[in-house]
Amino acid sequence: MGELFVDPTDPRPLTEQLYEQLRSAIVEGRLAPGARLAPTRVAAAELGVARSTVADAYGRLVAEGYVEGRRGGGSVVSAVPTTPTTMRRGAALSPTLAAASIEPYEPDPIPGATFDLRPGVVDEALFRASGWRRCMAQAAGQVSGHYTEPAGTPEVRDALAQWVTRSRGVVAVAEEVVVTSGAGHAVDLVARVLLEAPAVVAVEEPGYPPVVQLLRQHGHRVVGVPVDEQGIVVDAIPRDARLVYVTPSHQYPLGMVMTRSRRVQLLAWATAAGAAIIEDDYDSEFRHTARPLEPLQRLDRDGRVIYVGTFSKSLSPGLRLGFLVAPRSLVPALAAVRQVIDWAPPLASQAALTAFITGGHLDRHLRRSRIAYRERNRLLRETLETVLPPACRVLPAEAGLHLAIRWRPGEIPRDVHAATGTFRVGSLPRTYQFSEPQPGLLVGFGGLPTTSIPSACRVLAASLA
Ligand SMILES: Cc1ncc(COP(=O)(O)O)c(C=O)c1O
Repeated sequence: MGELFVDPTDPRPLTEQLYEQLRSAIVEGRLAPGARLAPTRVAAAELGVARSTVADAYGRLVAEGYVEGRRGGGSVVSAVPTTPTTMRRGAALSPTLAAASIEPYEPDPIPGATFDLRPGVVDEALFRASGWRRCMAQAAGQVSGHYTEPAGTPEVRDALAQWVTRSRGVVAVAEEVVVTSGAGHAVDLVARVLLEAPAVVAVEEPGYPPVVQLLRQHGHRVVGVPVDEQGIVVDAIPRDARLVYVTPSHQYPLGMVMTRSRRVQLLAWATAAGAAIIEDDYDSEFRHTARPLEPLQRLDRDGRVIYVGTFSKSLSPGLRLGFLVAPRSLVPALAAVRQVIDWAPPLASQAALTAFITGGHLDRHLRRSRIAYRERNRLLRETLETVLPPACRVLPAEAGLHLAIRWRPGEIPRDVHAATGTFRVGSLPRTYQFSEPQPGLLVGFGGLPTTSIPSACRVLAASLA
């Protein structure tokens, strides 16, 4: 009955008011055919009116065919033609230009697609076998009558600190960890806490478009800085940048690893400029070759690096779980900002993640997934190199779940997206936000079983030929 209201100052009789509201709800489709109206006794009690007032309104709706009386009591909505409310309402409000100009990045899956080779997709079967479901089922019983800690429960922060120290060499204790809804949310929190708009923020070009759009939303001047085979070109970072966002373990989208000397140079630059660095370590759990390099966060002596991790690749992007490790000077403000936005991460997800990490499921899942993804990476690369036209070059990638393909200069292919409706690949040009977009593709292999790789590559090659 949440739809119904009576207004004692309205000159119309109460029965008339109820009748009008119910009739509008039915013709506008808000009350669907078959929906049961609240019993007259219940509705009368909720609205504080006489039962006969409600009964008269229902009687009129029945008489006009909007509602049918059911044998044994009760009234249900009849099947009448509807006019959706949205078509009747005006458009007095419009979003800001900044909000309206955000282009969704790699939007919805396409139903019926044979292959979804976009970079964000992971293997559902591996995730299903990970034990997450059991941890989540147990965690569902965790209830609290209280709001919980904005930065995350002490248990999950401790589990994350120990895990990221052990697995990635990040220097972290629980008090420096903040649980977030993924990496994007972590960047959002850091930007809110560190920057006064308009600030200059440097990002890699090409790079990860959602972060650029997010920072622009905050009113900052975002500057694209070129990358070379060693990572971001430090000498090209504007002197007045307050924050630099980088993906050192596996540059998104091109895939190179930032060399140690470049890391040291970037840190020295940040010290000289008094700037902060966000190290987005979004997929380094999946390394396919040599040992990982030390994270920037570990090399940092000043407390200028905020390390960001996510479970979007290692578990599932649908979980919306990530974390950051921040210098202690920032943690109270990060927690306070989180509290005024949505208070805290969902308790059940945190409890499940704690059990998943401390019970050894995460390590086991990563061991299994690493083996599966490494094999896919190898086979995909080899097959693409055989079947793709000579104009294509598959870039080296030591980590992650996608490969980038570029075209040799002067060899521009037709648009692959337009060429086929049966599969989907990531777009390299879309990751250029500041300079002439370079043609190419991003081929994700997260959701592509080894047995499907040859046929997927053939379909891709055919669309390019
Ligand atoms: C560079 C980069 N960062 C982060 C993410 C994941 O973001 P989130 O944790 O918000 O899902 C992705 C996903 O593809 C990415 O490419």
